[in-house]
Amino acid sequence: MRRPDPPFAHRYGTWPALALGRVSIGGSKMAEPTKTATLSLDGKSYDLPVYSPTLGPDVVDIRKLYDQADVFTFDPGFTSTAACESAITFIDGDKGELLYRGYPIEDLANNCDFLEVCFLLINGDLPNATEKKDFENMVMHHTMVHEQMQFFLRGFRRDAHPMSVLTGLVGAMAAFYHDEIDYSEPHAREVAQIRLIAKMPTLVAMAYKYSVGQPFIYPDNSLSYTANFMRMMFATPCEEYKVNPVLVRALDRIFTLHADHEQNASTSTVRLCGSSGTNPFAAISAGIACLWGPAHGGANEACLQMLNEIQANGGVDKIHEFIAQVKDKNSSVRLMGFGHRVYKNFDPRAKLMRETCYEVLSELGLQDDPLFKLAMTLEKIALEDEYFVSRKLYPNVDFYSGIVQRALGIPTEMFTCIFALARTVGWIAQWEEMITDPEYKIGRPRQLYVGETTRKVPNISVRK
Ligand code: ACO
Repeated sequence: MRRPDPPFAHRYGTWPALALGRVSIGGSKMAEPTKTATLSLDGKSYDLPVYSPTLGPDVVDIRKLYDQADVFTFDPGFTSTAACESAITFIDGDKGELLYRGYPIEDLANNCDFLEVCFLLINGDLPNATEKKDFENMVMHHTMVHEQMQFFLRGFRRDAHPMSVLTGLVGAMAAFYHDEIDYSEPHAREVAQIRLIAKMPTLVAMAYKYSVGQPFIYPDNSLSYTANFMRMMFATPCEEYKVNPVLVRALDRIFTLHADHEQNASTSTVRLCGSSGTNPFAAISAGIACLWGPAHGGANEACLQMLNEIQANGGVDKIHEFIAQVKDKNSSVRLMGFGHRVYKNFDPRAKLMRETCYEVLSELGLQDDPLFKLAMTLEKIALEDEYFVSRKLYPNVDFYSGIVQRALGIPTEMFTCIFALARTVGWIAQWEEMITDPEYKIGRPRQLYVGETTRKVPNISVRK
């Protein structure tokens, strides 16, 4: 039986028909093939349809290959494999281009706030003025979490990493919000999407407050999404938090720049986990677990740690020594915050984050902050160094976002939680797109088996 969401029902009686799905997303029929590729194997040839995307390289369709030729393809790390059709995000790594629903990230970061970007990602287009107001109203009236969640949270050790706590809290949402359980119903999915966007800031702030032993701060729905989050992080019952628009704008931009990034590891995790038809909160929790790793969302934390270490070992004077270590083939030291698997020209998010970095430090009078000076000197030296230039290694978004978050007062171990908060909308947009895709199937990769061939179980007395 469906029970209405308590806070919403209290105000409005029941969930209204949500404004999502204004633009048709998902459910589209796959495009017709534009070409044919031919594979020759053991004297036979197989025609494989080729699709041309609206942007990006052509895609060879190998779905029938196993049936027809009795072979699998091998692609560990999925470096050449498109696992789905998607209309959400596009990246051109050589051009340094990132588009959400066709809009360049620069345009969005300069002209929209994060909730507009959320609306865009889940609906397919930007909201008009009425839709923006309704969407904000909807999100900001679902910020409170079930009161019982704080007791669940209190079961964790206070010194636990906040990402482990967040993974648990989001997974637990499946137990706290189970009034909607049939996720084949669009309304149920929309309710889950709003709940996730609305409650993530509250959960992240609660995980932080718990780790520092301070009381939880309830949301203030009269504030903007990002200002409310900052207040929940930094206010205490004895001291109100003064909202600073420059700092709010900076964090809002961090959210926008991290909102989606195509079929990366955590997004693919959400899709694979969700492909079994599991509860969306469980699928997002799996995405958070994946994001935690240092090769993914943990890189900005690692970058700040690197800067702190250089600073502690002599600062600017020791940069050349550090760069020599990075370039030494026998050392495993990397310049964190430099290089990217996809962006081989520049990371467009890094340019925007650099601007924000200057704005925040100047607002806070921190231009002379030694760590910032160190980062800027390191950046200059690396950008002029042949080693980095020839390998197309440029600063990525993490190089600057750690410095900005530190200046905002966010502790290093919370950086990945901030990333998870921002990426939640991307994950749910991708999950929705998958569920509504007529080609949708449970994910089931194949393998190149290199283990033992069939053998008999020996009697225990003769086993070596
Ligand atoms: N410092 C020093 N050398 C580097 C770096 C780096 N940060 N990144 C790459 N290289 C070198 C490699 O040693 C290699 O050199 P070689 O050709 O002489 O062997 C060459 O550049 C190519 O490196 P790959 O590891 O093949 O590049 P790949 O595209 O696989 O790696 C990655 C991308 C993992 C991001 C890498 O650049 C890196 O480790 N960067 C530091 C960590 C980081 O900042 N990650 C954040 C990514 S952004 C994000 O997740 C939001």
